[in-house]
Amino acid sequence: MSSRYAETYAAWRDDPVAFWGKAAEGIDWFEPATSVFNPHLGVYGRWFEGAMCNTCYNCLDRHVEAGHGDRLALVHDSPVTDSVSRFTFSEMTDRVSALAHVLRGIGVTKGDRVIIYMPMVPEAAFAMLACARLGAIHSVVFGGFAASELATRIDDAAPKVIVSASCGIEPGRVVAYKPLLDEAIDIATAKPDACLILQRQVHPCELTQGRDLDYAEQVDTALNAGQGTECIPVAATDPVYILYTSGTTGQPKGVVRDTGGHMVALKWTMEHHYGLTPGEVFWAASDVGWVVGHSYICYGPLLHGCATVMYEGKPVGTPDAGAFWRVIQDHKVAALFTAPTAFRAIKKEDPTGALIADYDLGHFRTLFLAGERSDPATIEWAQEKLDRPVIDHWWQTETGWAMSGNPVGLGAFPIKLGSPGKPMPGYDIRVLDDEGNPVPPGTLGNIVCKLPLPPSGFPTLWNAPERFLSSYMDEFPGFYATSDAGIIDEDGYVFIMARTDDIINVAGHRLSTGAMEEVIASHPDIAECAVVGKADALKGQMPLGFYVTNDGVNRDVAELEQELVKLVRARIGAVAAFKTAVPVIRLPKTRSGKVLRGTMQKIADAADYKQPAAIDDPAILTEITDALNARNLIG
Ligand code: COA
Ligand code: AMP
Repeated sequence: MSSRYAETYAAWRDDPVAFWGKAAEGIDWFEPATSVFNPHLGVYGRWFEGAMCNTCYNCLDRHVEAGHGDRLALVHDSPVTDSVSRFTFSEMTDRVSALAHVLRGIGVTKGDRVIIYMPMVPEAAFAMLACARLGAIHSVVFGGFAASELATRIDDAAPKVIVSASCGIEPGRVVAYKPLLDEAIDIATAKPDACLILQRQVHPCELTQGRDLDYAEQVDTALNAGQGTECIPVAATDPVYILYTSGTTGQPKGVVRDTGGHMVALKWTMEHHYGLTPGEVFWAASDVGWVVGHSYICYGPLLHGCATVMYEGKPVGTPDAGAFWRVIQDHKVAALFTAPTAFRAIKKEDPTGALIADYDLGHFRTLFLAGERSDPATIEWAQEKLDRPVIDHWWQTETGWAMSGNPVGLGAFPIKLGSPGKPMPGYDIRVLDDEGNPVPPGTLGNIVCKLPLPPSGFPTLWNAPERFLSSYMDEFPGFYATSDAGIIDEDGYVFIMARTDDIINVAGHRLSTGAMEEVIASHPDIAECAVVGKADALKGQMPLGFYVTNDGVNRDVAELEQELVKLVRARIGAVAAFKTAVPVIRLPKTRSGKVLRGTMQKIADAADYKQPAAIDDPAILTEITDALNARNLIG
């Protein structure tokens, strides 16, 4: 099939309002929009002003009403508990409605916030949808974050209720959630009225009297009594969720997602980008705590009437590198979406792809990769072993869907290795130099997107409208600054090369080096420190810390390193994967005192670097090289 990408992109460009107005027909509205786009509202305009709708209704009830109640909606496949469970659209609607009834009984109403701190269990998706049903705003916190990260989010979102579980399960290790939850609530100033706790058989917990309620007991009682709730109409411009993502400081940014635009954009992508038909099975092997999990484990597939797979396991080790092929076979998956790091892990354990032959991948059409740069070697390996298209696409928490990609549903265009495709309809992507001037094709620069952002683009940051402007809107007036650097070539393909801020990408997880530095600097023996992202063959990047001790401190280096590693794990969480801290005499800085992290990173990666003109004392670069060499950490 020849690609309809160019004509579709041109149709959007010629008339964005007509384009998104047509896409909005894929959603059931209680009241239609009075304007598809109002450029005078908000910072850059707002989508679907005046419309009333409900996300849960569009994900569940409407499919039941259309006679598809018996269709599969969600499969939970959990090698770590050796179990598989399935829910049809009818069953899921009943459960979500009963849970919404329970939440309403605890006082949750439209506009209230609910934090969801859960492992990869179906109840996490039920909780998201139950909030949407009530018009409450959920904020899912990734289970790999530690108590103080959870506390920061509790204080910012001020949730009425927290939905959590007794534990998560990592291979070979049970992660008890309850002590983390209790500690977070202790630290936080904003206290929830109640917590709804899912008891898991592997590791139940003791409930806190007067605060905690048993999830299953409450929901089963409601279900048995036939109690549920209707879908509460909300404005399309009301938030459906807040998702915190890393910024340059320890204070995460609360990305706000519009209800209406989010549904319109995701529904459009399911058909046109991912090429799925209602009734097929979509699998995003991510976590509900990340934006990929929000958009494509929970909302996107269900909005489109597809079944979604929720996988509680890893690409390797649960039990082996054939795990993904087994899931694709068992659940007849049509498209898989994951991070390249998962494929690097599989390739490392099964380099010849021998395990693929053990499974029937008859329903599987396309592999989608995102979350970090896809190295050409990984894509080529996947293409060859799977004999299917491998589509890289680029997006961010801030947008909620792909800014560039290759729309399989419109007919894919030829793939260029290393490029996550071309701009998607909705995104006018440009490359600018630091002064804001456009650069010629093929030239590296700041990747920006001409305003307005399309539906689902974040209208603001929760509780931080000023930070929204200063972080994203002020640097290049009229454009959204993505904080990614890259090029657009003469054929219009986008290449994402690096972040322009202090964010690093570890196993597809977006992490703030600034946040890690804040933790390390809080150690009593540390005078100053810097964290950079060192290239890693498996995880893409790994954090690498440098520190200078206070005068007079004479600590055992290995012991101090362990203390710093433990501190980062305790304050940020295991997901930070912080394992290495190197002592240095001084940090390299510019004459104005800016730490030269980029140069340190290049030294660690054994990459070419120019001595920065503004460096205060060039001898420090030799000291850094020596310190890294002493630990065999270069290259
Ligand atoms: N709850 C608690 N701890 C968690 C967690 C969770 N939900 N998720 C990860 N962790 C822990 C891990 O157990 C690990 O702990 P450890 O240091 O004690 O071993 C640590 O956080 C780092 O996790 P991760 O970086 O994921 O490494 P890993 O070695 O466990 O797995 C991969 C590596 C590549 C297999 C895994 O990262 C992966 O499958 N990634 C691809 C898919 C993906 O999730 N992408 C994200 C967005 S699309
Ligand atoms: P997150 O907000 O967690 O989805 O992370 C977004 C960041 O991940 C982007 O700003 C990029 O730096 C990186 N990223 C996501 N997808 C890709 C991709 N396909 N290629 C390169 N980098 C990517």
